[in-house]
Amino acid sequence: MNKKDAIVRIEALRKTYATTAENIDVLCGVNLDLHAGEMVAIMGPSGCGKSSLLHIIGLLAPPTAGRYTILGHDMFGLSEDRQAAFRREYLGFILQSCNLFEHSSVYENLEYPLIYARVPLAMRRQTIEQALGRVGLTHRIDYPTNRLSGGEQQRVAIARALVNNPKVLLGDEPTGQLDKGTSDMVMEYFQQIVREHDTTMLIVTHDPAVAKRCTRAFTMQKGQLVAIS
Ligand SMILES: Nc1ncnc2c1ncn2[C@@H]1O[C@H](COP(=O)(O)OP(=O)(O)OP(=O)(O)O)[C@@H](O)[C@H]1O
Ligand SMILES: [Mg+2]
Repeated sequence: MNKKDAIVRIEALRKTYATTAENIDVLCGVNLDLHAGEMVAIMGPSGCGKSSLLHIIGLLAPPTAGRYTILGHDMFGLSEDRQAAFRREYLGFILQSCNLFEHSSVYENLEYPLIYARVPLAMRRQTIEQALGRVGLTHRIDYPTNRLSGGEQQRVAIARALVNNPKVLLGDEPTGQLDKGTSDMVMEYFQQIVREHDTTMLIVTHDPAVAKRCTRAFTMQKGQLVAIS
């Protein structure tokens, strides 16, 4: 593959939610190319369709129309099983709700992706400690997840998303519950990951300081992406 080729390519993407009262056109022809080693921010007011776009890119929800390829592979033509395999192999998520297993420990939450990736047991604890260290949470490794604060849970979700070094990382307001200092620490971590592993990162955010640290930023207007930097 040519290094300049897009990892993720979205073309003419549309999403319409059909409700009993009306059809809501949320995405109206979104085009987006994401390359290795770049961090792209998407901003825009509440309800403009940011999460809808992220969920479609994450293969968590179907589009109404459009094309989507990862490394040249057509995503919308795939069976659910094949989509799930792509999701596991290429994509990492930090979603708006953290989606942690509340009744498992922090360690167990981070262990699941490593089990899927067949990382041997002997290597798991060290890998998990390192990932937690990057978000300042090593001391919580054996804690039950439901005893953590909201911001701590968000940081566990970040560590879990990164523990496998996914090629494409999708973050939906990943720093939304963090104070400025912790948010800066996490953003530095993201930047380092992107630099070291040529990761592609898409971040939905309301925070201009987060968008500023990204390579490019867009805002969503009338269901389309408009470049702002
Ligand atoms: N399953 C659904 N059925 C009907 N309408 C939906 C559905 N999911 C989202 N919507 C509507 O689509 C619009 C876009 O929602 P989305 O969650 O993508 O917004 P957002 O930009 O992420 O907002 P926020 O910044 O508040 O997270 C909203 O008006 C929402 O009410
Ligand atoms: Mg949202």
